[in-house]
Amino acid sequence: MNFELTKEQLQIQAVAREFAETKLLPGVIERDEASEFPIELFREFGKTGAYGLPYAEEFGGAGGSYMDYALAVEEVSKVDASFGIAFSVDTSLYGGSIMNSSASDEIKKKYLAPITYGEKIGSFGLTEHSAGSDAAGQTTVATKKGDKWVINGAKCFNTNGPLADFSIIYSLTDPALGTKGMCAFVVDKGTPGFTVGKIENKMGIRCAQVSELHLENVEVPEENMIAQPGEGFKLAMKALDGGRIGVAAQGLGIAKGAWEIARKYMMEREQFGKPIAKQQYLAFKMAELQAKIQQAELMVYRAAWMKDNGKPYSVPAAMAKMTATNCAMEVTTEAVQMLGGNGYMREYHVERMMRDAKITQIYEGTNEIQKLIVSGTLFR
Ligand code: CAA
Repeated sequence: MNFELTKEQLQIQAVAREFAETKLLPGVIERDEASEFPIELFREFGKTGAYGLPYAEEFGGAGGSYMDYALAVEEVSKVDASFGIAFSVDTSLYGGSIMNSSASDEIKKKYLAPITYGEKIGSFGLTEHSAGSDAAGQTTVATKKGDKWVINGAKCFNTNGPLADFSIIYSLTDPALGTKGMCAFVVDKGTPGFTVGKIENKMGIRCAQVSELHLENVEVPEENMIAQPGEGFKLAMKALDGGRIGVAAQGLGIAKGAWEIARKYMMEREQFGKPIAKQQYLAFKMAELQAKIQQAELMVYRAAWMKDNGKPYSVPAAMAKMTATNCAMEVTTEAVQMLGGNGYMREYHVERMMRDAKITQIYEGTNEIQKLIVSGTLFR
């Protein structure tokens, strides 16, 4: 067993950290207030090859690993969790749907390569108003018409939705068959009838763009069907298994970022004639939180390692997701408390991190759904 990162991984971490501190940090508060996504910065970071880290070079990827990808998501999320989720959805939910699909290599190259370097952006359309935790409750329907498919329906809570050049759309071919007839398509932005609906005004991850996507008689060529009828649900579940490692890494990054802000603050802030770090109650709390962060880190890295080494990783990913995101919520809440009145103010960052942390317990499967996945394997 080896707990050390490789030279390449330390390099990926350093590049992502430098980018986060020099490019993402300035303006992160203003972007949060304005609910503005830093699209130019997203493209700039893409030039490092980050969004294709876990994918093979022949498909435009960097030929790295999921561990590399998790490290990069963690670093950017220490500073800007909105950027972290846009990255994670692009790589693991969109990219994972493409790469795990039955699409031809030509289609895989066409729809994966441009996202790996940030030239194009991808989104993942599974959730609908009636299909949240119950992902099988889809109502979007695809009907065969000659050599095309015609899709009708609507998706919601779609991260990157308004920005995406390509979107994965999960659909039913026959509502009577339910998931047994579920398929998936990759749909290009600008396809007639494919429009962006309501853009959400959110509590946290306010820079990330999240919207409805509407499909009205959207015609898609046969080759864009990336999961055949009956294979769509499994493709979505597989993409989510990988996505949950991304959200876990995002949670880990938020927790580490907020903890570090609290640590620095506690060494500078004096009350009762000494830095508040010298108050044993507060120092003990920080020790407790650091232990929880390291626990989450082990689980996130292990889940990525399991995926990279071809081992079953649905359950490790679910456990890492719930552990790291609960950790993010606890650490950010405590960080606000550590900073007292200042913690409640925007310029200290931790209140934003606390708002950002909340959604990590909810999306890509609520933490209750993660418990369902884990508990389902315990009593066989
Ligand atoms: N990998 C491959 N196949 C899987 C699988 C997995 N991880 N999990 C289940 N399957 C297969 C099963 O083997 C089963 O196959 P058979 O029919 O051949 O037996 C089939 O899928 C159905 O499985 P279940 O009966 O377990 O399915 P279910 O309807 O009970 O649902 C669930 C299971 C885990 C609760 C699932 O619905 C789920 O994950 N829900 C949460 C959805 C979710 O995470 N949504 C987030 C969307 S993205 C987002 O958050 C927005 C964003 O942009 C960030």
